[in-house]
Order: sequence, then C-alpha cells, then structure tokens
Amino acid sequence: MEQAPKVTVTPHQGRIGILTPGMGAVSTTLMAGVLAVRKGLAKPIGSLTQMGTIRLGKRTDKRAPTIKEFVGLPELDDIVFGGWDIFEDNAYESALNAGVLNKEDLDNVREELEAIKPMKAVFSTDYVKKLDGSWIKTGGTKWDYAQQLMADIESFKADNNVDRVVIVWCASTEVFLEPGDVHQSIEAFEQGLKNDDPQIAPSMIYCYAALKLGVPFANGAPNLTADLPVMEQLAKETQTPIAGKDFKTGQTLMKTILAPGFKARLLGVSGWFSTNILGNRDGEVLDDPASFKTKEESKLGVLDQILQPETYPDLYGDLYHKVRINYYPPRGDNKEGWDNIDIFGWLNYPMQIKIDFLCRDSILAAPIVLDLALFMDLAKRAGFCGIQDWLSFYFKAPTVASELTAENDIFIQQLKLKNTLRYIKGEDELTHTGADYYDYYQ
Ligand SMILES: NC(=O)c1ccc[n+]([C@@H]2O[C@H](COP(=O)([O-])OP(=O)(O)OC[C@H]3O[C@@H](n4cnc5c(N)ncnc54)[C@H](O)[C@@H]3O)[C@@H](O)[C@H]2O)c1
Repeated sequence: MEQAPKVTVTPHQGRIGILTPGMGAVSTTLMAGVLAVRKGLAKPIGSLTQMGTIRLGKRTDKRAPTIKEFVGLPELDDIVFGGWDIFEDNAYESALNAGVLNKEDLDNVREELEAIKPMKAVFSTDYVKKLDGSWIKTGGTKWDYAQQLMADIESFKADNNVDRVVIVWCASTEVFLEPGDVHQSIEAFEQGLKNDDPQIAPSMIYCYAALKLGVPFANGAPNLTADLPVMEQLAKETQTPIAGKDFKTGQTLMKTILAPGFKARLLGVSGWFSTNILGNRDGEVLDDPASFKTKEESKLGVLDQILQPETYPDLYGDLYHKVRINYYPPRGDNKEGWDNIDIFGWLNYPMQIKIDFLCRDSILAAPIVLDLALFMDLAKRAGFCGIQDWLSFYFKAPTVASELTAENDIFIQQLKLKNTLRYIKGEDELTHTGADYYDYYQ
C-alpha cells in the first residue's frame, strides 16, 4: 500500500546542469555516454538512476518500480553539460585524447561534444605537480578566483537556460593535504582566500564557490576538498548537499564486494597485495608521490573498516595490506589491477585468491558521476543538506559526520541508499527479516 511521503521533494522542472571541474577521461566518457544514450545508440549500463529498480513493501506485493520513476528524476534529455579544464580542448578533442571511447563512438555525438567547451580553470602546479596547462585563470587572489567561479556558474545557468546545477569534481588528484586552522571556520577560510593561503587547494575554491551559491558538490577524487569544517558549515548555511570522496571503481570496488563475503563467512585474511598499472593522465598525476599519497590513504582504509580487526583479532589482526599504483603508458585508460589475497580457513589452513581485473576505469566511473549528479540534485530538492552519507555507495573513502566511521561494505551501502529513497517517499524501509511469511514466533 502506498504511504504519504515523509519528505517534501520539490518536483523536477526544466533543465539541470552538470558541471565538472576537469574535463578529462571520466568527465568526457560521461558526456559522450549520456549523449549516445539520448540518441538511442547505447544503454546506460552501470547506472542505478537509469536502469535500477527498487522493491517496495513485501515480496508478495510485487511492487518494483524503476528508481527514476519512483523518486522523479530528470530525464537525460534535461541535462546540460559544462566544465572547467586547464586545457582548452573541447569535450570531443579531450575525449579523443583520453582514448577511452573509440573514435567511431565519439563521432556519433561529435557535434554535441564539440559544443562543450571548458571554462578557464583555477589551477596551480603547487597542488598537481605533473600537469601544467594554459587555460587557467590568472592575476588574482584565491578570493578573486572564487568570485570568478561563481560568475562562471551563474553565466552557465543563464546561457543554457538551466534552473539548477550540480558540480562533480572530476579533475586530477591533488597533493596530500591535512586540515589546518584556515579550514576551521567560514571566516578563517575567507581570510585565507584573500591571503592566498597555501593550505587552500584549487579544489577547495571550487567547492567553496559551489556551496556559496547553494550548488551541490560531490568530490570524485581523494582530495580533502569538501571534508573540512568550513565546507560543512557552509553547506548548512546555504542548505546544500556535499558528498565525497574518490569514485569507487576498479580494484576498490572489487575489495568492497569481496571483503564483506570473507567476513560474513568468518574466513581469515593474512595478506592483500594490490597492484595496478595504468597509463592515462590520472596515472601520470599519481606517479607523483604527493598525489599518490592522497590516493593511497583513500584506498587503504576500506579493509580495516569492513573486516574490523579489533573485533576479530584472530582473523584480521595481522593483515598485511599493500596498494601500489604504477604509471605504465602503453595501457592508456585500460588499467590492470592484480590482487593477491592470502586467506585462511578451518584449522588455519591457508588458501590464495588471485584476481586480475582488466578494467576500464572511466567506463566504471562515468555512470557513477551521472548517478551522483542526479541524486545530489534530488537531495537538494528534498531539502537535505550537509554530508550525504547515503551516497557512500559511490565512494572509496566516504565522507561521514566526524563522530561516525565510514561504511565501506557495498551491500550495506546499497541498502542504505535504497532505504533512503524509500524514506524520502514514505515507504517502509526494508529489513529483510521476512518474518511475516512464517510462523517462527508462535
Ligand atoms: N577513473 C576512475 O575510475 C576514477 C576513480 C576514482 C577517482 N578518480 C579520480 O577522478 C579524477 C578524474 O579522473 P580522470 O581519469 O578523468 O583523469 P584525467 O587526468 O583524464 O582528467 C582530469 C582532468 O582534470 C584537469 N584538471 C586538473 N586540475 C584541474 C583544475 N584545478 N581545474 C580544472 N581542471 C583540472 C586535467 O587537465 C584533466 O583534463 C581524478 O582525480 C581521479 O583520481 C577516477
């Protein structure tokens, strides 16, 4: 039986803008994919918002609408893309350069991609060492750049007749930074912008600009960016959703699928060695130790949280976990991720599992960006603000409230996401006990 919604959601109307700082492999694969799907040339595989369904009520009710219809998401035709990059290449040129999609596939949507031209980036080689470009805002302070980004967003909306905008960070991974005094309050941060404080990275300037305008901001890279008290305060002040960080694709996706299985069956894990070779621009950036450290922190956390070595010292107390990423140009975007997993079972007898995932990072990341953009917009329309923990499903290192530990188990994350959608629409949240069908308790 349908129930009254607990949350009032402003219905979608008009057009929605998806803006990405960074118009590289992930971003252009998203754009080309959405354009191809719109033309009926492909299916949106991997996207929950496009292909997912959601069970409502009891199993016997047989109610399972698509998520898109259930919560009222925009159509793909309603989306307008835009972005910023340090290179002037339009989305077609950038996609060709990224080498993820075949030229043939790109040519089917060439005209539309060519029309997507990046705005000038806020960038400094202090934060991304391996890249430099010429399409960059210059001559101002960080404060000036924040104002310019806000002006970019406003003109994008006006030029494209767009009602709402969402920003998803798809730019390069910045060097490892830790929170400092300048990140503790809005006042300190604004002063820091004016003083060009080195602890303020470009991604933080984009995030600040977005939140100031009430534009939802999701962070697809492992940078600190939105994980700061200043951003949380600003998000509350302007009633804006934030989410992050680091898209969960490739090897970490596999880890968060497998580790919950080992733990469920109480199988021990003594070692997990993960190595990657990749040859895209992301790989080149990660070849710099400072950017790699940012990534490494994000990748290492998942096993500890899922396996809980403090609770299960006999099974996971001595786990040796190592992650390596090597830049290897011949592979381009087609990464190879090897995992050697040493597990042990009954009477400590050892076993090994080897995974060799010949994956395509941007093919896995593109639907995540689409889902995040549409769900962040839904969150905004539902009046949700601050950290959107229910979108942890999409991230390697989910941002959560300071008193919480992140949940990395993909199955719990999925339940949480779907239950949040049920909650929004006033449907019963699913517990899967199924006790109604049997007479256990008689
Ligand atoms: N591909 C994946 O599966 C995956 C998974 C998790 C996270 N990520 C992260 O997503 C981001 C994008 O990945 P990608 O493969 O598209 O990388 P990419 O190198 O192809 O694209 C990044 C783009 O960002 C631009 N850029 C750098 N700094 C910028 C700035 N300050 N402002 C605007 N543009 C800027 C670069 O010029 C480049 O075109 C990376 O940080 C990566 O670590 C990707």
